[in-house]
Amino acid sequence: MSAKKIDIFDTTLRDGEQVPGCKLNTKEKIELALALENLGVDIIEAGFPISSPGDFASVQEIAKVITNATVCGLTRAVQKDIEVAAEALKLAKRPRIHTGIGSSDIHIKHKFNTTREVILERATAAVKLARNFVDDVEFFAEDAGRADLQFLAKLVETVIAAGATVVNIPDTTGYCLPHEYGSKIAYLMNNVPNIDKAILSCHCHNDLGLATANSIAGAVAGARQIECTINGIGERAGNTSLEEVVMIIKKHQDLNLYTNIKSEQLNPVSRLVSDTMRMPVQPNKAIVGCNAFSHSSGIHQDGFLKEALTYEIIAPEEVGADTSKIVLTARSGRSALAHRLLKLGFEYNRNDIDVLYQEFLKIADAKKEVEDSDLKEMANAYVAVGI
Ligand code: KIV
Ligand code: ZN
Repeated sequence: MSAKKIDIFDTTLRDGEQVPGCKLNTKEKIELALALENLGVDIIEAGFPISSPGDFASVQEIAKVITNATVCGLTRAVQKDIEVAAEALKLAKRPRIHTGIGSSDIHIKHKFNTTREVILERATAAVKLARNFVDDVEFFAEDAGRADLQFLAKLVETVIAAGATVVNIPDTTGYCLPHEYGSKIAYLMNNVPNIDKAILSCHCHNDLGLATANSIAGAVAGARQIECTINGIGERAGNTSLEEVVMIIKKHQDLNLYTNIKSEQLNPVSRLVSDTMRMPVQPNKAIVGCNAFSHSSGIHQDGFLKEALTYEIIAPEEVGADTSKIVLTARSGRSALAHRLLKLGFEYNRNDIDVLYQEFLKIADAKKEVEDSDLKEMANAYVAVGI
Protein backbone atom coordinates (compact mmCIF):
# COMPACT_ATOMS: atom_id res chain seq x y z
CA MET A 1 0.00 0.00 0.00
CA SER A 2 1.46 3.40 -0.96
CA ALA A 3 2.26 5.85 1.83
CA LYS A 4 -0.35 8.53 2.58
CA LYS A 5 0.58 12.22 2.52
CA ILE A 6 -0.05 14.22 5.70
CA ASP A 7 -0.54 17.92 4.99
CA ILE A 8 1.30 20.10 7.47
CA PHE A 9 -0.82 23.09 8.48
CA ASP A 10 1.35 25.52 10.39
CA THR A 11 -0.39 27.88 12.81
CA THR A 12 2.71 29.48 14.38
CA LEU A 13 1.55 32.88 13.12
CA ARG A 14 -2.00 32.50 14.48
CA ASP A 15 -2.38 30.06 17.40
CA GLY A 16 1.38 30.32 18.10
CA GLU A 17 1.24 34.09 18.23
CA GLN A 18 -1.45 33.89 20.94
CA VAL A 19 1.38 33.26 23.44
CA PRO A 20 1.51 36.15 25.92
CA GLY A 21 4.34 38.53 25.03
CA CYS A 22 5.01 37.05 21.59
CA LYS A 23 3.35 39.67 19.42
CA LEU A 24 4.93 39.94 15.97
CA ASN A 25 4.82 42.85 13.55
CA THR A 26 4.00 42.44 9.86
CA LYS A 27 7.65 42.43 8.76
CA GLU A 28 8.51 39.68 11.24
CA LYS A 29 5.45 37.67 10.18
CA ILE A 30 6.43 37.89 6.52
CA GLU A 31 9.94 36.68 7.32
CA LEU A 32 8.56 33.71 9.26
CA ALA A 33 5.98 32.90 6.58
CA LEU A 34 8.72 32.75 3.93
CA ALA A 35 10.79 30.47 6.18
CA LEU A 36 7.77 28.22 6.70
CA GLU A 37 7.10 28.01 2.98
CA ASN A 38 10.76 27.16 2.41
CA LEU A 39 10.53 24.48 5.09
CA GLY A 40 7.82 22.81 3.02
CA VAL A 41 4.65 23.43 5.02
CA ASP A 42 1.49 22.94 2.96
CA ILE A 43 -0.73 25.52 4.65
CA ILE A 44 0.28 28.66 6.55
CA GLU A 45 -2.37 30.04 8.89
CA ALA A 46 -1.33 33.67 8.65
CA GLY A 47 -3.67 35.20 11.22
CA PHE A 48 -7.17 36.17 12.28
CA PRO A 49 -7.90 39.12 9.96
CA ILE A 50 -10.86 40.63 11.82
CA SER A 51 -9.03 40.61 15.15
CA SER A 52 -7.02 43.81 14.47
CA PRO A 53 -5.90 46.06 11.61
CA GLY A 54 -2.35 44.76 12.18
CA ASP A 55 -3.43 41.15 11.77
CA PHE A 56 -5.45 42.04 8.67
CA ALA A 57 -2.37 43.72 7.15
CA SER A 58 -0.15 40.75 8.00
CA VAL A 59 -2.49 38.26 6.35
CA GLN A 60 -2.77 40.54 3.32
CA GLU A 61 1.01 40.95 2.96
CA ILE A 62 1.69 37.25 3.50
CA ALA A 63 -0.94 36.41 0.87
CA LYS A 64 1.02 38.54 -1.62
CA VAL A 65 4.45 36.96 -1.08
CA ILE A 66 3.66 33.27 -0.62
CA THR A 67 3.62 31.36 -3.88
CA ASN A 68 3.48 27.63 -3.15
CA ALA A 69 1.78 27.15 0.20
CA THR A 70 -1.91 27.75 0.84
CA VAL A 71 -2.48 30.89 2.93
CA CYS A 72 -5.26 30.63 5.47
CA GLY A 73 -7.14 33.17 7.58
CA LEU A 74 -9.18 32.33 10.68
CA THR A 75 -12.75 33.51 11.28
CA ARG A 76 -15.59 32.84 13.66
CA ALA A 77 -18.82 31.63 12.06
CA VAL A 78 -19.78 35.27 11.68
CA GLN A 79 -20.60 37.04 8.41
CA LYS A 80 -18.34 40.07 8.99
CA ASP A 81 -15.36 37.89 9.98
CA ILE A 82 -15.68 35.86 6.80
CA GLU A 83 -16.01 38.91 4.56
CA VAL A 84 -12.95 40.53 6.16
CA ALA A 85 -10.88 37.32 5.85
CA ALA A 86 -11.88 37.01 2.19
CA GLU A 87 -10.72 40.59 1.61
CA ALA A 88 -7.38 39.96 3.35
CA LEU A 89 -6.82 36.81 1.29
CA LYS A 90 -7.84 38.37 -2.04
CA LEU A 91 -4.32 38.30 -3.50
CA ALA A 92 -3.36 34.83 -2.26
CA LYS A 93 -2.52 32.25 -4.94
CA ARG A 94 -4.16 29.55 -2.83
CA PRO A 95 -6.50 31.13 -0.28
CA ARG A 96 -8.27 29.18 2.45
CA ILE A 97 -10.87 30.47 4.91
CA HIS A 98 -10.84 28.64 8.25
CA THR A 99 -14.20 29.20 9.91
CA GLY A 100 -15.95 27.42 12.74
CA ILE A 101 -17.91 27.32 15.95
CA GLY A 102 -18.10 25.42 19.25
CA SER A 103 -19.24 21.81 19.10
CA SER A 104 -19.21 20.56 22.71
CA ASP A 105 -22.25 21.03 24.93
CA ILE A 106 -20.05 23.03 27.32
CA HIS A 107 -19.31 25.55 24.55
CA ILE A 108 -22.84 25.45 23.12
CA LYS A 109 -24.40 26.18 26.51
CA HIS A 110 -21.88 28.51 28.17
CA LYS A 111 -20.24 30.29 25.24
CA PHE A 112 -23.13 30.52 22.79
CA ASN A 113 -26.14 30.04 25.08
CA THR A 114 -27.85 28.18 22.26
CA THR A 115 -28.81 24.71 21.00
CA ARG A 116 -27.19 22.06 18.84
CA GLU A 117 -29.72 22.83 16.06
CA VAL A 118 -28.66 26.48 15.93
CA ILE A 119 -25.00 25.44 15.81
CA LEU A 120 -25.75 23.29 12.73
CA GLU A 121 -27.49 26.23 11.08
CA ARG A 122 -24.72 28.72 11.85
CA ALA A 123 -22.04 26.28 10.70
CA THR A 124 -23.85 25.68 7.41
CA ALA A 125 -24.33 29.39 6.78
CA ALA A 126 -20.67 30.18 7.56
CA VAL A 127 -19.31 27.49 5.23
CA LYS A 128 -21.69 28.47 2.42
CA LEU A 129 -20.77 32.13 2.75
CA ALA A 130 -17.03 31.35 2.78
CA ARG A 131 -17.45 29.19 -0.33
CA ASN A 132 -18.77 32.27 -2.16
CA PHE A 133 -15.27 33.74 -1.81
CA VAL A 134 -12.87 30.77 -1.99
CA ASP A 135 -12.89 27.14 -3.14
CA ASP A 136 -10.98 25.93 -0.11
CA VAL A 137 -12.93 26.20 3.15
CA GLU A 138 -11.86 24.56 6.38
CA PHE A 139 -14.39 24.23 9.19
CA PHE A 140 -13.29 23.88 12.84
CA ALA A 141 -15.58 22.16 15.34
CA GLU A 142 -14.18 23.89 18.41
CA ASP A 143 -13.78 21.70 21.51
CA ALA A 144 -14.48 18.57 19.46
CA GLY A 145 -12.35 16.72 22.01
CA ARG A 146 -15.23 17.00 24.51
CA ALA A 147 -18.16 16.99 22.06
CA ASP A 148 -20.85 14.33 21.91
CA LEU A 149 -19.66 11.95 19.19
CA GLN A 150 -23.01 11.52 17.40
CA PHE A 151 -23.52 15.27 17.31
CA LEU A 152 -19.96 15.79 16.09
CA ALA A 153 -20.57 13.29 13.27
CA LYS A 154 -23.76 15.15 12.32
CA LEU A 155 -21.89 18.48 12.34
CA VAL A 156 -19.08 17.09 10.17
CA GLU A 157 -21.60 15.66 7.70
CA THR A 158 -23.49 18.97 7.61
CA VAL A 159 -20.46 21.19 6.94
CA ILE A 160 -19.15 18.84 4.24
CA ALA A 161 -22.58 19.00 2.58
CA ALA A 162 -22.35 22.81 2.79
CA GLY A 163 -19.00 22.77 0.96
CA ALA A 164 -16.21 22.36 3.54
CA THR A 165 -13.08 20.83 1.98
CA VAL A 166 -11.32 20.20 5.30
CA VAL A 167 -12.89 19.55 8.70
CA ASN A 168 -10.78 20.33 11.73
CA ILE A 169 -11.43 18.25 14.87
CA PRO A 170 -9.72 20.33 17.57
CA ASP A 171 -8.91 19.02 21.00
CA THR A 172 -9.11 22.65 22.06
CA THR A 173 -8.51 22.01 25.75
CA GLY A 174 -5.89 19.26 25.33
CA TYR A 175 -8.14 16.86 27.24
CA CYS A 176 -8.19 13.69 25.12
CA LEU A 177 -6.01 10.63 25.54
CA PRO A 178 -4.33 9.37 22.34
CA HIS A 179 -6.51 6.26 22.03
CA GLU A 180 -9.66 8.37 22.56
CA TYR A 181 -8.66 10.98 20.01
CA GLY A 182 -7.70 8.26 17.50
CA SER A 183 -11.06 6.51 18.07
CA LYS A 184 -12.89 9.80 17.50
CA ILE A 185 -11.24 10.23 14.11
CA ALA A 186 -11.83 6.57 13.24
CA TYR A 187 -15.52 6.93 14.20
CA LEU A 188 -15.91 9.97 11.94
CA MET A 189 -14.09 8.21 9.08
CA ASN A 190 -16.45 5.23 9.40
CA ASN A 191 -19.76 6.94 10.19
CA VAL A 192 -19.94 10.21 8.26
CA PRO A 193 -21.54 9.22 4.92
CA ASN A 194 -19.89 11.96 2.81
CA ILE A 195 -16.45 11.83 4.52
CA ASP A 196 -14.71 11.07 1.20
CA LYS A 197 -15.57 14.63 0.04
CA ALA A 198 -13.28 16.28 2.62
CA ILE A 199 -10.24 15.58 4.71
CA LEU A 200 -10.12 15.52 8.50
CA SER A 201 -7.57 17.59 10.35
CA CYS A 202 -6.04 17.19 13.83
CA HIS A 203 -5.59 20.33 15.94
CA CYS A 204 -4.41 19.28 19.38
CA HIS A 205 -3.44 21.36 22.39
CA ASN A 206 -0.84 20.32 24.90
CA ASP A 207 -2.48 20.90 28.29
CA LEU A 208 -1.68 17.32 29.36
CA GLY A 209 1.48 17.01 27.25
CA LEU A 210 -0.38 14.81 24.74
CA ALA A 211 -0.72 17.07 21.69
CA THR A 212 1.86 15.25 19.57
CA ALA A 213 0.68 11.77 20.59
CA ASN A 214 -2.94 12.73 19.88
CA SER A 215 -2.11 14.15 16.45
CA ILE A 216 -0.24 11.01 15.47
CA ALA A 217 -3.13 8.85 16.75
CA GLY A 218 -5.48 10.96 14.59
CA ALA A 219 -3.30 10.57 11.50
CA VAL A 220 -3.05 6.81 12.02
CA ALA A 221 -6.86 6.69 12.24
CA GLY A 222 -7.30 8.50 8.91
CA ALA A 223 -6.86 12.26 9.37
CA ARG A 224 -4.81 13.70 6.51
CA GLN A 225 -3.81 17.07 7.96
CA ILE A 226 -1.99 17.96 11.18
CA GLU A 227 -2.13 21.49 12.60
CA CYS A 228 0.97 22.43 14.51
CA THR A 229 3.45 25.17 15.42
CA ILE A 230 7.20 25.51 15.43
CA ASN A 231 8.55 24.66 18.91
CA GLY A 232 4.99 23.71 19.92
CA ILE A 233 4.20 27.29 20.93
CA GLY A 234 0.60 28.39 21.35
CA GLU A 235 -2.29 29.18 23.63
CA ARG A 236 -1.69 28.03 27.26
CA ALA A 237 0.57 24.93 27.18
CA GLY A 238 0.88 25.19 23.42
CA ASN A 239 0.00 23.26 20.28
CA THR A 240 1.32 20.14 18.61
CA SER A 241 4.98 20.62 17.84
CA LEU A 242 5.66 20.60 14.08
CA GLU A 243 9.17 19.21 14.41
CA GLU A 244 7.95 16.33 16.60
CA VAL A 245 5.14 15.10 14.31
CA VAL A 246 7.34 15.47 11.24
CA MET A 247 10.18 13.42 12.73
CA ILE A 248 7.83 10.77 14.17
CA ILE A 249 6.35 10.30 10.70
CA LYS A 250 9.82 10.27 9.11
CA LYS A 251 11.38 7.84 11.57
CA HIS A 252 8.38 5.48 11.80
CA GLN A 253 8.03 4.36 8.23
CA ASP A 254 5.81 1.59 9.59
CA LEU A 255 3.07 4.25 9.91
CA ASN A 256 3.03 4.44 6.10
CA LEU A 257 2.70 8.24 6.17
CA TYR A 258 4.89 11.04 4.84
CA THR A 259 5.14 14.83 4.82
CA ASN A 260 6.88 17.27 2.46
CA ILE A 261 8.88 18.95 5.23
CA LYS A 262 12.62 19.43 4.63
CA SER A 263 13.78 18.13 7.97
CA GLU A 264 17.29 19.65 7.74
CA GLN A 265 15.66 23.06 8.16
CA LEU A 266 13.90 22.21 11.41
CA ASN A 267 16.58 23.56 13.76
CA PRO A 268 17.29 26.76 11.78
CA VAL A 269 13.55 27.55 11.60
CA SER A 270 13.12 26.72 15.28
CA ARG A 271 15.88 29.21 16.16
CA LEU A 272 14.39 31.85 13.87
CA VAL A 273 10.97 31.53 15.55
CA SER A 274 12.49 31.50 19.02
CA ASP A 275 14.61 34.60 18.34
CA THR A 276 11.88 36.52 16.53
CA MET A 277 9.28 35.76 19.20
CA ARG A 278 11.79 36.19 22.00
CA MET A 279 10.64 32.86 23.36
CA PRO A 280 13.41 30.45 24.43
CA VAL A 281 13.15 26.75 23.62
CA GLN A 282 13.37 24.45 26.64
CA PRO A 283 16.80 22.71 26.61
CA ASN A 284 15.35 19.18 26.64
CA LYS A 285 12.81 19.86 23.86
CA ALA A 286 12.67 16.97 21.38
CA ILE A 287 14.44 17.62 18.05
CA VAL A 288 15.24 21.32 18.61
CA GLY A 289 16.30 21.66 22.29
CA CYS A 290 20.01 22.45 22.85
CA ASN A 291 20.37 19.14 24.74
CA ALA A 292 18.60 17.00 22.13
CA PHE A 293 21.96 15.70 20.89
CA SER A 294 24.04 16.00 24.07
CA HIS A 295 25.28 12.96 25.98
CA SER A 296 26.35 13.39 29.56
CA SER A 297 26.29 10.10 31.46
CA GLY A 298 29.36 7.85 31.32
CA ILE A 299 27.39 4.79 30.20
CA HIS A 300 25.79 6.68 27.32
CA GLN A 301 29.01 8.42 26.31
CA ASP A 302 30.89 5.12 26.17
CA GLY A 303 28.20 3.54 23.96
CA PHE A 304 27.85 6.62 21.76
CA LEU A 305 31.61 6.83 21.17
CA LYS A 306 31.62 3.18 20.04
CA GLU A 307 28.59 3.65 17.76
CA ALA A 308 26.28 6.70 17.62
CA LEU A 309 23.23 4.50 16.93
CA THR A 310 23.42 3.13 20.48
CA TYR A 311 21.95 6.35 21.87
CA GLU A 312 20.77 8.43 18.91
CA ILE A 313 17.74 7.62 16.76
CA ILE A 314 18.21 10.77 14.67
CA ALA A 315 21.48 12.07 13.24
CA PRO A 316 21.77 15.79 14.15
CA GLU A 317 22.41 16.77 10.50
CA GLU A 318 19.06 15.20 9.56
CA VAL A 319 17.32 17.99 11.50
CA GLY A 320 19.91 20.72 10.95
CA ALA A 321 21.22 20.61 14.53
CA ASP A 322 24.82 21.15 15.60
CA THR A 323 26.93 17.99 15.90
CA SER A 324 26.26 15.67 18.83
CA LYS A 325 27.94 16.82 22.01
CA ILE A 326 29.72 14.89 24.72
CA VAL A 327 29.30 16.99 27.85
CA LEU A 328 31.99 16.32 30.43
CA THR A 329 30.55 16.24 33.94
CA ALA A 330 31.10 14.23 37.11
CA ARG A 331 28.88 11.54 35.50
CA SER A 332 31.30 11.09 32.58
CA GLY A 333 33.59 8.10 32.35
CA ARG A 334 37.18 7.44 31.34
CA SER A 335 36.40 6.82 27.66
CA ALA A 336 34.79 10.24 27.22
CA LEU A 337 37.74 11.87 28.99
CA ALA A 338 40.30 10.01 26.85
CA HIS A 339 38.33 10.87 23.70
CA ARG A 340 38.22 14.58 24.49
CA LEU A 341 41.89 14.71 25.51
CA LEU A 342 42.81 13.02 22.23
CA LYS A 343 40.77 15.62 20.33
CA LEU A 344 42.73 18.31 22.17
CA GLY A 345 46.03 16.69 21.11
CA PHE A 346 46.91 14.73 24.26
CA GLU A 347 47.35 11.01 23.79
CA TYR A 348 47.54 8.85 26.91
CA ASN A 349 47.73 5.18 27.81
CA ARG A 350 45.27 3.52 30.15
CA ASN A 351 47.42 4.10 33.29
CA ASP A 352 47.75 7.81 32.57
CA ILE A 353 44.00 8.08 32.02
CA ASP A 354 43.35 6.34 35.37
CA VAL A 355 45.42 9.00 37.15
CA LEU A 356 44.02 11.89 35.12
CA TYR A 357 40.47 10.67 35.68
CA GLN A 358 40.82 11.21 39.46
CA GLU A 359 41.96 14.79 38.79
CA PHE A 360 39.14 15.23 36.32
CA LEU A 361 36.56 14.11 38.94
CA LYS A 362 37.82 16.74 41.41
CA ILE A 363 37.31 19.47 38.79
CA ALA A 364 33.96 18.00 37.72
CA ASP A 365 32.65 17.90 41.30
CA ALA A 366 33.56 21.55 41.71
CA LYS A 367 32.01 22.65 38.39
CA LYS A 368 28.84 21.81 36.50
CA GLU A 369 30.61 21.17 33.20
CA VAL A 370 34.32 20.64 32.58
CA GLU A 371 35.57 22.90 29.78
CA ASP A 372 38.33 22.22 27.28
CA SER A 373 40.41 24.92 28.97
CA ASP A 374 40.20 22.97 32.29
CA LEU A 375 41.35 19.81 30.50
CA LYS A 376 44.26 21.55 28.81
CA GLU A 377 45.39 22.98 32.14
CA MET A 378 45.10 19.56 33.76
CA ALA A 379 46.95 17.80 30.93
CA ASN A 380 49.72 20.36 30.84
CA ALA A 381 50.19 20.06 34.60
CA TYR A 382 50.36 16.26 34.22
CA VAL A 383 53.05 16.56 31.55
CA ALA A 384 55.04 19.07 33.64
CA VAL A 385 54.96 17.51 37.10
CA GLY A 386 53.18 14.22 36.67
CA ILE A 387 50.44 15.70 38.96
O1 KIV B 1 -7.92 25.24 19.55
C1 KIV B 1 -8.84 25.53 18.75
O2 KIV B 1 -9.94 24.99 18.82
C2 KIV B 1 -8.54 26.53 17.74
C3 KIV B 1 -9.58 26.76 16.69
C4 KIV B 1 -9.81 28.21 16.49
C5 KIV B 1 -9.16 26.05 15.44
O3 KIV B 1 -7.48 27.09 17.72
ZN1 ZN C 1 -5.99 26.03 18.90
